[in-house]
Amino acid sequence: MLTPSSPSFCASSIIGTGSYMPEKVLTNEDLSKIVDTSDEWITTRTGIKERRIAADDQATSDLASEAARRAMTAAGVTAEEIDLIVIATVTPDMFFPSTACIVQRKIGATNAVCFDISAACSGFLYALQIARHFLNAGTRATALVIGAEKLSTLVNWQDRNTCVLFGDGAGAVVIRRAEETDVEAPGRVLSTVMGSDGNLVDLLKVPGGGSACPITPENALSRPNTIHMEGRETFKHAVTRMCQASEQALEMAGLSKEDIAMVIPHQANARIITAIAERLGLPPEKTFMNVDHYGNTSAATIPVALDEAHRQGAIKRGDIVLLVAFGGGFTWASSVLRW
Ligand SMILES: CC(C)(COP(=O)(O)OP(=O)(O)OC[C@H]1O[C@@H](n2cnc3c(N)ncnc32)[C@H](O)[C@@H]1OP(=O)(O)O)[C@@H](O)C(=O)NCCC(=O)NCCS
Repeated sequence: MLTPSSPSFCASSIIGTGSYMPEKVLTNEDLSKIVDTSDEWITTRTGIKERRIAADDQATSDLASEAARRAMTAAGVTAEEIDLIVIATVTPDMFFPSTACIVQRKIGATNAVCFDISAACSGFLYALQIARHFLNAGTRATALVIGAEKLSTLVNWQDRNTCVLFGDGAGAVVIRRAEETDVEAPGRVLSTVMGSDGNLVDLLKVPGGGSACPITPENALSRPNTIHMEGRETFKHAVTRMCQASEQALEMAGLSKEDIAMVIPHQANARIITAIAERLGLPPEKTFMNVDHYGNTSAATIPVALDEAHRQGAIKRGDIVLLVAFGGGFTWASSVLRW
């Protein structure tokens, strides 16, 4: 196994971040006019105050392309230099071709190999690890890793249990193979752990619209192609798995909780984030949160939050940053970065 100290290990680093959030804001007050809910209920149970909703003519690839352009600008790389695009999404523009291929055309990344991956809210960290393997193997040099979602298309706007939770958006990073000797390169990914438990597929899913349950005139009214979730069970698993993954990623990087300058967790619910911070013994100022503005944007939450944390100066060069995610599957993952 290659470790960071192996002679043939080739480090990879995040050299630029970017994000794009659609303009339209949907507040809790707006939602209370659609379903039987209130700003007070949503705020106390989730911490969410508002979310962004993409325009009708904006597809996931449009959000992803804008985030990608911003990440490439920040990284100082041209579209031609990108030789790999991996997009994590559960709301692709269409079944095929991949959203990554559509983004390739939109941004002009003519030299890239492109594909999507599906790991729900853990998707960005899964995609980051996949891209790192390509870079570490030496077959690719500069990758765009994107988390992008138009979840508003999967939401049942008549179901108050779920419609208050989700939003649209996209975040992207450019990662580049670094020289083996360049161990102090900023944005370096020090470790990643990933896990899955397919026994729990039924707790969080979109059951219809795929090959198991195609949409038919008979079933369309029951809306099988929308998000179905056992909220309480999901909550418990999310806290447990994200804490475990964080500890494992830290251990793999040879670091401890005291080394963390900032944890950037998947933004699903402020109570989940607070519970993780408490279990890891981290104060609120070391826990990045923007779920109040955007809700849960699935694969986009971590790259969007990473980009915002960087641009706001909440994380600085050299900081140890812990990323941790959890999503449908169930899936989970954590990465430690030296920013
Ligand atoms: C969804 C979630 C916010 C619900 O909070 P909760 O405290 O578990 O609430 P419950 O599901 O037990 O529901 C409590 C009551 O509120 C009601 N309720 C649900 N949504 C509501 C809403 N938007 N407004 C008002 N009431 C609502 C329920 O109907 C229930 O009423 P009842 O007791 O009369 O049956 C919470 O379980 C959660 O965040 N789960 C994890 C979700 C998540 O993060 N998913 C993505 C993971 S990647």
